[in-house]
Amino acid sequence: MSSDSISIQPISSSTKSVAKKKVHIETWGCQMNVADSERMLSLLEANNYELTNSGPDNADLILLNTCHIREKARHKVLSRLGVLDQLKAQKPGLKIAVTGCVAQADGKKLVELAPQIDVLIGPGKIDELPRLLRERDITGESAVATGFDRHNEDIHQKVDDHQTLGDEPMIHIPSVTGKYEVNRFVNIIQGCNNFCTFCVVPFTRGREISRSMTEILQEVRYMVSQGAKEITLLGQNVNSYGLDLIGCDDVPEDGGPFVELLKAVAETPGVERLRFTTSNPHDFTKPLADLFASHPKLGLYMHLPVQAGHDRTLERMKRKVTIDQYMQRIEWLRASAPNIAISTDLIVGFPGETEEEFEATLRLLEKVRYSFVYAFKYSSRKGTAAARFLDQVSEDEKDRRLAKLNELQDKITLEHVLAAIGSVKDVLFIYNSKKDPRIWVGKTLDYRTVRVCSEANLAGKTLPVKLTSGNKIALIGELVQ
Ligand code: 5AD
Ligand code: SF4
Repeated sequence: MSSDSISIQPISSSTKSVAKKKVHIETWGCQMNVADSERMLSLLEANNYELTNSGPDNADLILLNTCHIREKARHKVLSRLGVLDQLKAQKPGLKIAVTGCVAQADGKKLVELAPQIDVLIGPGKIDELPRLLRERDITGESAVATGFDRHNEDIHQKVDDHQTLGDEPMIHIPSVTGKYEVNRFVNIIQGCNNFCTFCVVPFTRGREISRSMTEILQEVRYMVSQGAKEITLLGQNVNSYGLDLIGCDDVPEDGGPFVELLKAVAETPGVERLRFTTSNPHDFTKPLADLFASHPKLGLYMHLPVQAGHDRTLERMKRKVTIDQYMQRIEWLRASAPNIAISTDLIVGFPGETEEEFEATLRLLEKVRYSFVYAFKYSSRKGTAAARFLDQVSEDEKDRRLAKLNELQDKITLEHVLAAIGSVKDVLFIYNSKKDPRIWVGKTLDYRTVRVCSEANLAGKTLPVKLTSGNKIALIGELVQ
């Protein structure tokens, strides 16, 4: 990408006087996509757009930031494009941009299938959005950019040239959700080198490229200056942050650049809570677990995806850890922070998963007693190794396993919730309900959702709450006077 292809202007530029165009953004999938949507909105704002919250009907540009992790997500994009096509027929000039992992995976094929797409951009090319919109205007053809920059220097140069002025970011990094001004996401590493056999991410997001620590800390300071209290560092595999910068294949024994980064962010004035996701157990070190004892801002919550409870399945998934090694990481965490809540990701019905192997996953749930789990039916993704495995499990069987697993975990989650009732916990309040603005929603240090009723504006405040009731989704509480 040539460096003159983006024209980011400071927010106070002359573009302010021209009537702004409206962009409607729909973001699916993971928090990485939320961070990417924010970055794209930032670029659009510098190019005379503003976010509309009144739906797609009044928009000049509709941006679908898509997810490709499971098959259903892609069907959702295609059916959404069908609906938007009708809107486009009524509103000449309306543009549709498709970004994210479906854009990267399907590329031009998707444009052929859905010619209503004006601009299509993969996650590695989001900085090119303004240029592609202009290209679309000039040529009248759909504009497409997919793929990844090969050199780290390009990425860093790009941001240094265009995004920073002295020590602080020059452009506004807006929140796309409106809901999450209090907890903001900061991308620290793109892509993944792991190639777990079920996963499409290394194909849709490319290889690992870390951002420089200086740039990350600038962004954190910026988010704090905008009112953020909680920062979540994001990456497909945050534990391997910086290995590309220091030229290492494995995380050094002292925890390496990621541990260094966490300490620096935790010490940034104004950061009240610090979280990070997603961690791969393979790169999860003891010094990282130890930080939970020395750095209370990390809170009492850790998401550590295991995917399956049996070594044979893990090996075929190419997860590079055994259950014993995984349990060792849980022990490190619990030695560091005895009350830490742990959650995980699980896949049921991975090709060749036997009943016995599935039962081992159920036993793991009972052993770890996760705070909650995100469980998915295996979804075959074209191009991944597991898609070629012969012994695929039937959909009915996957349904049965998922239901059984969820039933067990619901019981465990409820037991955790019941144990918390009656206690007082510090809650960081994030947003209030649109329907009833007196209902405030926040998170405990151990990442439970808590709702309270209050006439006062609680956004961004951390207050003690007495927990009075709850279910597996949320706890209800009262502010302690
Ligand atoms: N099928 C089902 N679940 C998947 N995940 C990733 N790829 C697949 C797939 N092909 C799940 C994993 C991962 C989470 C983000 O999505 O559990 O941790
Ligand atoms: Fe996918 Fe595995 Fe990389 Fe996670 S670590 S993004 S599951 S390939």
